[in-house]
Amino acid sequence: MDMVVVRDVYKAFGQLEVLKGISLTVEKGEVVAIIGPSGSGKSTLLRCLNRLETMDRGIIEIEGETLAANGPDGKSLYAPEPQARTICRKMGMVFQSFNLFPHLTVFENVIEAPLVVKGVQRSEIEPEAEELLRKVGLFDKRNSYPSRLSGGQKQRVAIARALAMKPDIMLFDEPTSALDPELTGEVLKAMRQLAEEHMTMLVVTHEMAFAREVANRVIFMDDGEIVEEGKPSEIFSQPSHPRTQAFLKSML
Ligand SMILES: Nc1ncnc2c1ncn2[C@@H]1O[C@H](COP(=O)(O)OP(=O)(O)O)[C@@H](O)[C@H]1O
Ligand SMILES: [Mg+2]
Repeated sequence: MDMVVVRDVYKAFGQLEVLKGISLTVEKGEVVAIIGPSGSGKSTLLRCLNRLETMDRGIIEIEGETLAANGPDGKSLYAPEPQARTICRKMGMVFQSFNLFPHLTVFENVIEAPLVVKGVQRSEIEPEAEELLRKVGLFDKRNSYPSRLSGGQKQRVAIARALAMKPDIMLFDEPTSALDPELTGEVLKAMRQLAEEHMTMLVVTHEMAFAREVANRVIFMDDGEIVEEGKPSEIFSQPSHPRTQAFLKSML
């Protein structure tokens, strides 16, 4: 089943065309890595998927439901508010900057959205949050405030917090790029574990080793377009496009 369908998506900021006809699909249980130079539109694409940004034209379907399609004037027409919100809740997102609530403890950060946004009972979410914090190795930090955590720990809390909403799809936007090198491993480990549990994942990353080992498919984006996509073994050993070759060389 296609969990994410993106068809011919266009997005401009003023005169700057950032997405120039992007199409991709992500199947259930698939891990798709998006790589590409800075400014190529990777974050904008993820942000369009969960409506943090609105696209100008194109189609987005999540688990068979239409989040946006082209209206009669040829411009994007989004599903009405309650429906669009429900569709977007199927996706959890982890950002480069962790975006934790500084005034809440680790545990409170994880239970906040299920309690407030979804109206889940405390008695239901608390054991789930404990389980999630164990999973990312932070149960012992549950009463700490984010300011007391390392970047790697904060990002693992952010992952647990996204998972607490029980998404079917996880979007990651360069989750390790703000971290000191020695802290990236623990975050990648949590993501790898999630992949092993067959979470559907769309991951923007500059960690080529992670993309090669964990992704089922790699998409190379440059200048608002998908230049090339394929199995990691193909893309990393025999990239067919000169722009992919040049990018991979620059990442060595
Ligand atoms: N809100 C915005 N307003 C204007 N320009 C933006 C905005 N967001 C991103 N851009 C521009 O769009 C281009 C693509 O950005 P982005 O999607 O962040 O690329 P990437 O994630 O691949 O580095 C960049 O030139 C960036 O400066
Ligand atoms: Mg980005």
